[in-house]
Amino acid sequence: MPSDAVRALDPELADLIGRLPKVELHVHLEGTLEPDLAFRLAARNGVALPFASVEEIRAAYEFSDLQSFLDVYYAACTVLVTREDFRDLTRAYLARAHADGVRHVEPFFDPQTHTDRGIPIGDVIGGILDGLAEGEREHGITSGLILSFLRHIPAEAADATLAAAEPWLDRIVAVGLDSSEIGFPPEPFAGTFARARSLGLRAVAHAGEEGDASLVARTIEALGVSRIDHGVRAADDPAVMRRLVECGVTLTACPNSNVRLRVFPTMERSTIRTLLDAGVAVTINSDDPAYFGGYIGDNYRAIAAALGLNAGDLARLATNAINGSFATAARKQELLAELGRAVAG
Ligand code: ADE
Ligand code: ZN
Repeated sequence: MPSDAVRALDPELADLIGRLPKVELHVHLEGTLEPDLAFRLAARNGVALPFASVEEIRAAYEFSDLQSFLDVYYAACTVLVTREDFRDLTRAYLARAHADGVRHVEPFFDPQTHTDRGIPIGDVIGGILDGLAEGEREHGITSGLILSFLRHIPAEAADATLAAAEPWLDRIVAVGLDSSEIGFPPEPFAGTFARARSLGLRAVAHAGEEGDASLVARTIEALGVSRIDHGVRAADDPAVMRRLVECGVTLTACPNSNVRLRVFPTMERSTIRTLLDAGVAVTINSDDPAYFGGYIGDNYRAIAAALGLNAGDLARLATNAINGSFATAARKQELLAELGRAVAG
């Protein structure tokens, strides 16, 4: 676990966090694959996992940086084979999210991680859309799906993936960019992102996780994004923070992820306080909760305890998530009204 025990969380703030209607803007569906589901899917599909037990998998979740995590994450994805697998993965996440008070989610999926293994893109997207529809029926969670390109694969492949996804683009809200940040800059993806935006999609991209503040500014410039995923290194450069405020770009921060992947040595060193004080629209999210020791509520609790956040800070973080989402104006109004009631107690 991160340094969560260092400072205890005020019970009133813990209650408030429990009541907040949460919007999750940064969660990778593949990163919600819990070890028990990974074992069940491996058995169902006859896929071998290099671990003997759930305990052995959990013990392997010690990461030294982003790449050491991605190696395990991509290996675990091999258990996802059929449309039903993608539906089950999505449903399991939404059940957990519901328990955590999530009302709206905009999850990422990485089609290339699956199509490169010969899985038809229609099975990937179809299964996820089935799961999202069931989650809305069962839990009332609304959603907007984000198709994310892998930046360690050449940009031409991102273009081909966008073309292959065309039959489903009316069910996808945005494109994203993830995977290894260092050595894989945003500029080669500018054409694909421009095409996606011309097709009516929104754009988001990971930046400023392991990369420095200049990569946040370059990503806004090159890709025309509405949100930067992570972006926490922007706090190192006041000019970049001013740019984020001027452009109205939301940051989707993931506190537990940042500690587990050693972006920060401890939770107390998170830059979220600096970003809030500069007026940046920062939000709290879980990234890859099955790997980083907790879902969105755990992330709110951990950062609130470590930074000594107050009720006003927490309400602001939750408001930023509603306003920075791609939900309809009517849905945003509903969520803001619910948030007002939660804060009033
Ligand atoms: N893919 C899944 N999690 C990621 C992260 N934290 N950064 C970049 N790519 C990812
Ligand atoms: Zn991420």
